[in-house]
Amino acid sequence: MLELQNINYVKKNKEILNKITAGVERGESICLFGPNGAGKSTLLKIMASLIKPTSGKCEISLSTPKTVGYIPQQIALFPNMSVKDHLKYYQKLTKQKDQAFINEMSSALDLNSIMNKKVEELSGGMARKLNLAVGVIHRPEMIFLDEAFVGVDLAFKHDMLTWLNKLNNQGVTIVFVSHDWHVIYNLAKTMWVLQDGKLMDQFLIKDISKREMDYQSEDSALKKMFALRKFDYEKNGN
Ligand SMILES: Nc1ncnc2c1ncn2[C@@H]1O[C@H](COP(=O)(O)OP(=O)(O)O)[C@@H](O)[C@H]1O
Ligand SMILES: [Mg+2]
Repeated sequence: MLELQNINYVKKNKEILNKITAGVERGESICLFGPNGAGKSTLLKIMASLIKPTSGKCEISLSTPKTVGYIPQQIALFPNMSVKDHLKYYQKLTKQKDQAFINEMSSALDLNSIMNKKVEELSGGMARKLNLAVGVIHRPEMIFLDEAFVGVDLAFKHDMLTWLNKLNNQGVTIVFVSHDWHVIYNLAKTMWVLQDGKLMDQFLIKDISKREMDYQSEDSALKKMFALRKFDYEKNGN
């Protein structure tokens, strides 16, 4: 449903993405993984059609237009507006008629208890949940998330992951940027490894133990990022 063909992205004479070719099938859940500055956010924006590549093609085929949801890294909400008014505003903006979907989402993300709070009164984690809710209120066919779980505690993470997995199980395609192993293990089926603007590797999460060996000999940021996986999980017997 999405094809990237030889994507290059150049800004101020700097090559940010280099010859990226890959495809995304309907219903996939992909984590874009790699060190800071690898080009993950740039690639995600190209995939979400927010920016155009310098050269190469990004072709996306959806059953109806405008059915992409993009959750930005920076929380984009109105400080003085309540949670309820955000939902109403974005419902109107996206012409979402399916109130049952919004009700289901509000309970899944546990927004009902904070409906009357203004954004400026929300904790960071609550704001992240609302940021997700408004980004998917129109029930997009593809969802792109850029570090959408930063500063979210485990209970809220649980709500967000459960909701996203439910959508994914219904056939919604998810592409996300994260270096949180908890999120990766609970949301991704596939990992794309980016470094220096290049797509180094693609593999199934279930094959991660085999594939990460490839990075062990390198003295790279990737080696350290994969090492943290062991530190987080294997020490505890998982
Ligand atoms: N608009 C821009 N102008 C100049 N450089 C940019 C711009 N956007 C991103 N970059 C540079 O491109 C590289 C990749 O950025 P980004 O896609 O944000 O990486 P990541 O999300 O993997 O950390 C970085 O070196 C960043 O400084
Ligand atoms: Mg980024």
